[in-house]
Amino acid sequence: MGHGIAQVFATQGHAVALLDVSEALLERAREGIRGSLERLEKKGLVPSGETKIILRRIATSTEWDAIREVELAVEAVTEDASVKRQIFGRLDELAPERAILASNTSSISITALGAATKRPERVVGMHFFNPVPLMSLVEVVRGERTSDGTVLAVAESAKRLGKTPVEVHDFPGFVSNRILLPMINEAIYALMEGVADRDSIDAVMRLGMGHPIGPLALADLIGLDVCLQILEVLHRDLGDPKYRPCPLLRRMVLAGRLGRKTDRGFYPYPKPTERVPSKNP
Ligand code: CAA
Repeated sequence: MGHGIAQVFATQGHAVALLDVSEALLERAREGIRGSLERLEKKGLVPSGETKIILRRIATSTEWDAIREVELAVEAVTEDASVKRQIFGRLDELAPERAILASNTSSISITALGAATKRPERVVGMHFFNPVPLMSLVEVVRGERTSDGTVLAVAESAKRLGKTPVEVHDFPGFVSNRILLPMINEAIYALMEGVADRDSIDAVMRLGMGHPIGPLALADLIGLDVCLQILEVLHRDLGDPKYRPCPLLRRMVLAGRLGRKTDRGFYPYPKPTERVPSKNP
């Protein structure tokens, strides 16, 4: 999601430093951002000719030095608490003292990430939704020691991006994934138990409940590995068996069938892409 986040900040006029572990990933990010901006430009959602200007605002780097001047850092690495804690330790060392350190985590404790720094009052959750340029929510997560000023600053920043911030407290999965992931998990159980086939399960939720895409297509969009990680956090940290990840989900992750970022998930994707599945993938 990092490149979607970089895209929306750059579109709003900010200079953005996009940091990743390899040039290949950064190149993929630049291509993804270009593709998304061109689509938005065609629809008139980005002013004509702006794609190049917006892209020029995004400097990509594999060097930590790139964050020495930032006012706001938004971390969007894998959903692994120990990796995130390390990253927050590093951000705390390198980013200016006044900078806010935000996490785009889907489920991991903001309080724990704040505790990995010497500035827990300036650590906050800034949870975007996929695809970031299209989805209007930012879940602003207040950790135990996050200050009012930090919550207000990121909420204002989200509004300037044209998003709607909604403040929530620091509980596993926050509001979004505490509600969304059990629905997706239940859809996978329904598939595993043969209640209906894939297309029927998704059709029921699209046509009967008005969801834009079905839960199995949405799991493919989020990434099945990410869905499993979030369910594991909910199951472990809330201690309730109702969050038990479906064995079929575990098996698909073990098989490397992770959804749209690979060649298949519940649906086949001949060319891995981060485009949203159409209504009938
Ligand atoms: N940038 C720009 N445009 C994009 C895009 C992107 N990244 N992704 C899709 N689009 C465009 C497509 O090009 C398409 O444009 P055209 O109509 O001109 O072809 C348009 O959006 C609509 O796409 P589709 O027709 O393919 O799909 P759709 O009608 O279903 O709409 C959607 C797409 C609005 C994203 C809709 O599917 C939707 O709302 N899906 C649910 C998304 C969702 O629930 N996201 C949250 C996931 S949870 C999460 O992210 C957080 C977490 O912690 C797990």
